[in-house]
Amino acid sequence: MRILLLTRSFNSLTQRLWVEFARRGHELSLEFDIADSVTEEAVALFAPDPIVAPFLKRAIPESVWCKHVCLIVHPGIEGDRGPSALDWAILDGERQWGVTVLQAEAEMDAGPVWASATFPLRSATKSSLYRNEVTEAAVAAVLQAVERYEAGRYVPRRVEQGAPGVRGRTRPLIKQEARRIDWACDDTATVLRKLRAADGVPGVLDELFGVPVYLFDAHAAAAAQRPHPDPPPLRRGGSFLPPPPAGGGSGVPQSEALRRWSGEALQGRDWAGRGGGGPGTILARCHHAVLRATTDGAVWIGHCKRADLEDGYKLPVAVAFPEQVAALPEIDGYPEITYEEHGPAGARVGVLHFAFYNGAMSTAQCERLRAAIVQALARPTRVLVLAGGPDFFSNGIHLNVIEAAASPADESMRNIEAMDDVCLSILTATDRITVAALQGNAGAGGAFLAFTADEVWARDGVLLNPHYKNMGNLYGSEYWTYTLPRRVRQGEPRAVLEQRLPIDARQANELGLVDEVLPADRAAFMPAVLDRALALAQAPDLAGRIAAKQAQRAADEAAKPLAQYRAEELARMRRNFYGFDSSYHVARSYFVRKTPHSWTPRHLARHRG
Ligand code: COA
Repeated sequence: MRILLLTRSFNSLTQRLWVEFARRGHELSLEFDIADSVTEEAVALFAPDPIVAPFLKRAIPESVWCKHVCLIVHPGIEGDRGPSALDWAILDGERQWGVTVLQAEAEMDAGPVWASATFPLRSATKSSLYRNEVTEAAVAAVLQAVERYEAGRYVPRRVEQGAPGVRGRTRPLIKQEARRIDWACDDTATVLRKLRAADGVPGVLDELFGVPVYLFDAHAAAAAQRPHPDPPPLRRGGSFLPPPPAGGGSGVPQSEALRRWSGEALQGRDWAGRGGGGPGTILARCHHAVLRATTDGAVWIGHCKRADLEDGYKLPVAVAFPEQVAALPEIDGYPEITYEEHGPAGARVGVLHFAFYNGAMSTAQCERLRAAIVQALARPTRVLVLAGGPDFFSNGIHLNVIEAAASPADESMRNIEAMDDVCLSILTATDRITVAALQGNAGAGGAFLAFTADEVWARDGVLLNPHYKNMGNLYGSEYWTYTLPRRVRQGEPRAVLEQRLPIDARQANELGLVDEVLPADRAAFMPAVLDRALALAQAPDLAGRIAAKQAQRAADEAAKPLAQYRAEELARMRRNFYGFDSSYHVARSYFVRKTPHSWTPRHLARHRG
């Protein structure tokens, strides 16, 4: 069929549907929802069968829905209506939620239902739920709706609110007033629920250091705060954690541990922030995050967006408030880089997690990650798993931090050098096998970071965007000129970069970019990775494999040193950063400010082609 995707942006759900439709042989085109006239023109040019709208903020014009079946993805259960579906579900503590595919009509979200799917509502941020459970349910429901449409006999069902078995109801747009945190009354669980329901857009309007801000990226301090009875690799101010003690927790109740730890860390210091000591007080910092007291503990806040600036965009708290944060006492605890070890002596596996918010890696984060890799490589393991974060493996250099720098060109250069240092530490780890385990999506430099490992294992359904050009024609680095030709099995390596489209784990596997596709289920993926890694560490031919790897690396180095690959790539990147063509700076500015699209790129809007 000819399917037109109509969407506000080419977001992860839309990308996933693109991949799934393409796999099934449908003819695809896409238009951004820019204006009614643009939508009408796209429909006239492409003459689609159904129109699928995965992510819209406005109604489809009547001129379109009255002549074409428009399948709208609504992130709510049957009967649910309104623009804040998922936000309400999290705030209300729903246990079961869903996605409904309904046909566009005059009243928003009220059209007949073509398909729906449900899932248990995990305790997580809205964006994490959207990229995982909602996406999986939406893909299943949309594919079913399209099959039903194609079969031609299905009559979509009217769902009446209040009818037996229909739990969904109409909910208004959530205002900031309903999201507000009452620091004097809200316990940690409530604070987290409010922040999670608003992450990554729009955040919760609050204050930091007397300035109105939207808050994001919250973690319970108690959960992250384990006292470390024997912590050899733990650095003050770092977050390179030793493996948890055998049998799980530390045996110390968490609130007591937190009190003990914060009491020690803060002894003799003045508490900064408002109020001077009660809930809401900003207690300390760890890297770019601040710790804020609640009525029964504390939460880490990693990112914020200033609400007093018209031009505000999301930044790490320490970048938004450098002087104020620098004045805070520094302690451990913001859960960003963690390390664990498994397996018997002689066949141990190290797992390094780096859960950077949104997968973005600033210069400082790259430096910390490289230091953690160096420490992990000093451990007697035979396999090192680089696990990224649960939602993203990595999305490359941190465009928001770069945007905020006094010289974005200089900061881009520093960031890409630091990123290349991370890549180099993996490429030169020749005494063991390295594995990149993609629990979540990887984009741009973050995808190429994965390709520096010996093996890439990805969760089924994960998306890769292994290209740089969408960010103002960036040339790219991360040693891609070395790694990509060694991986790509089909066609020209450069074609991977040039097509500028997402691919999923299975397509990446066919191309040679991914070596193994493991179970789609989030909870099953890391245990499956660990099983495979343990088997690898105990494999009888491991020593031979490592020797072959060393010989290959030495031969490659003799043919062309890694330093030369890096210098050549960076020479091109320097031109992107400092050259006459400012496309990268313009694209980055639009990206961080989420400037609405004013046209659809030709490689997506094929009807304009
Ligand atoms: N730097 C800073 N923030 C980034 C980022 C980066 N490199 N990559 C993604 N993000 C942020 C987005 O702004 C968004 O923020 P939000 O929570 O405020 O909405 C969030 O991460 C998720 O990204 P989004 O674009 O919504 O995810 P997606 O799954 O729809 O798309 C990508 C994934 C990778 C295609 C897209 O994020 C992208 O193009 N990122 C830029 C990659 C890049 O060019 N990196 C620099 C060159 S190495």
